[in-house]
Amino acid sequence: MGLYSTAMETIEAYTGLSPAAFFTIAALMFVTYRIVCSMFVDPEEFNDKKPIDANISSTQPIPIPAPIQEPVQLGDMTEEELRAYNGSDPSKPLLMAIKGQIYDVSPSRMFYGPGGPYALFAGREASRALALMSFDPRDLTADLEGLSESELEVLQDWEYKFMEKYVKVGQIVTEKIAVLQTDDGEANVKKEE
Ligand code: HEM
Repeated sequence: MGLYSTAMETIEAYTGLSPAAFFTIAALMFVTYRIVCSMFVDPEEFNDKKPIDANISSTQPIPIPAPIQEPVQLGDMTEEELRAYNGSDPSKPLLMAIKGQIYDVSPSRMFYGPGGPYALFAGREASRALALMSFDPRDLTADLEGLSESELEVLQDWEYKFMEKYVKVGQIVTEKIAVLQTDDGEANVKKEE
């Protein structure tokens, strides 16, 4: 009993708090400490963690990301033909056109590939949509009619970004024409089917 009362008196003398207040504050500090600790990983536990690959059982195939192909020059293409390069065929590159120029955006598959946030632009001429910062499919066109100065500037900035980041692989044409050389050297212009 003597020890208990000495301890209580010591707490009061040193902290200026009643023993009840002292223990309440101590308990609150302990609870706060536990809550904060639970927000962090124990350093030992963290170091013990195996690398991600080691967690994959040897019976499971390790997913191999599709290799990024070197950009191939594709030349003239109609908007209709461009649509085939929207990521639905994984063997084809992902293409996107701005101001009639076609860029290979395959390195950014996470943006433009199926399920990506900008998948709607893949295989399309996206000039108007980019100028207006619009996700409306009706704006997936090269038609810049009625755009303001500042919207055209936005489009220009996008074009610079694409020119810098991606390889240009072709250009949009309204229709494809083939120039055939006849026997007498004359050129015959023929619409391609
Ligand atoms: C809430 C609004 C938006 C947010 C938070 C956002 C955020 C982002 C971020 C973080 C990136 C990645 C940038 C990088 O790593 O290079 C990005 C890229 C992009 N954003 Fe947005 N974005 C928004 C709206 C839009 C809109 C409205 C458009 C056009 C209609 C757009 C078109 C794009 C395009 C085309 C890219 C890819 C550029 C590239 O290929 O490097 N974004 N966005």
